[in-house]
Amino acid sequence: MEKNIIESQCFLWDTSVKSYDSTGIRPARRIIAACQALHNTRPTAEDRRLSHMNISLRQLRVFEAVARHLSYTRAAEELHLSQPAVSMQVRQLEEEIGLILFERLGKRILLTEAGEEVHQYSQAIDRSLIEMEEVMESLKGVNRGRLQVAVASTVNYFAPRLLAIFQKRYPGITLKLVVTNREKLVHLLDGNAVDLVLMGLPPKTVEVESEVFMENPLVVVAPPDHPLAGERDIPLSRIAQEVFVMREEGSGTRQAMERFFAERGLSIRHGMQMTRNEAVKQAVRSGLGLSVVSMHTIELELETRRLVVLDVEDFPDRRQWYLVYRQGKRLSPAARAFREFVLAEAASIAAPISFPQKTPANG
Ligand code: PGA
Repeated sequence: MEKNIIESQCFLWDTSVKSYDSTGIRPARRIIAACQALHNTRPTAEDRRLSHMNISLRQLRVFEAVARHLSYTRAAEELHLSQPAVSMQVRQLEEEIGLILFERLGKRILLTEAGEEVHQYSQAIDRSLIEMEEVMESLKGVNRGRLQVAVASTVNYFAPRLLAIFQKRYPGITLKLVVTNREKLVHLLDGNAVDLVLMGLPPKTVEVESEVFMENPLVVVAPPDHPLAGERDIPLSRIAQEVFVMREEGSGTRQAMERFFAERGLSIRHGMQMTRNEAVKQAVRSGLGLSVVSMHTIELELETRRLVVLDVEDFPDRRQWYLVYRQGKRLSPAARAFREFVLAEAASIAAPISFPQKTPANG
C-alpha cells in the first residue's frame, strides 16, 4: 500500500515537477528519498532544491508554543496572536514539511511522532538563537543592549520604581517589562523568554537560580466598617467563616492563601474571582468579602483608610520576593547589573512604609 502510494507520488513527481513547484507544494523529503530508492537515483540539484524546506523562524516559534502548551488557545495568548493566525502558521509548517505535526484526541491535541521530532529541533534552534543573542548582548557592555524583566502582577506595585532608578543609572539599556501572574512567569522561565523574573516562591518544575530580595507579607483586608475591623487576635476559625474575594487560578497570592489555610486544616469560602489586585481591592471595599493580599498592593488604601488590615491569628503570612532566572543562563552585563541592583537596593526602595508587626494582645 505504502509502496503504491509512493510509486504514484513518484510518477506525479517525475512527470509534473513543475506543477508541484508552481503550486508551492513541495514533496516531503521522505517521498523524495523513497522515489530515489525506487529509481535507484542519486539526488540531483533539482531534487535538493525541491526537498529544501522553506520553514520560517516564525512558524517554528508558533509551533513550539503550541507544542509546549498542547493548546492553540494558550499559544495564541502567549504570542499575542489570534487563534486562527496560530493554526495557519502550524498548517503552513505542516505543508512545508509534508507531515502532520498534531493530532486531535477528543478536545485535546497531541504531538505526532513527526511533531515530537520537530519540537526537539525547534527547541534546539530557539536555544541557539537565545544563546547567540546573549553572547551579542555581552559584547555590548553594561550600558548598552536590552534587558527583559518579567514580574508578578503583585510585584508591579513597586517594579516601575526600581526600573526608573535603574534606567537613570544606565540610560543606554533598553528595558522591557512584562507583567503577568505566577503561572505565566513559570512558562516564560521554562521557555527562556526573559532575562530575569521577580516573583513569589520560585517554581519547582523549572530548574532556576533564585535569590530572596525582600519580604512580602500577606495580610487579611476588610472594609473599614467591617464588624471585625479593630478586633484583636481574631481566631482563624472565625475568619474562615467569612467569604473571600479570590485572585484567579495561576496567581501566586491565591496559591499562598490557599496553602496557608490548608496547612492549618481550614478551607475558605470562595466568593468572587478577580484577575487583578485592583479589582480585588475594589470588591473588598464594596463589601463583597474579605481577601488576602500582599502589603505591597495596599499602601494607598491604608493611607486613605479605604481598607483596613485585620489582626488575624498567624497573620501576616511572611512570604518573600525572589529574583529568579533559568539555571545555566548566561546573564548579559545589563542583567548582571540589574540583579546586583535588586539584591542590594530593592528592599530599601520598595518596602512598604509600615510592614505589619504583631502586637501583643494586651499591649
Ligand atoms: P501573583 O504573584 O501576582 O500572581 O499573585 C504574586 C506571587 O507570586 O506571590
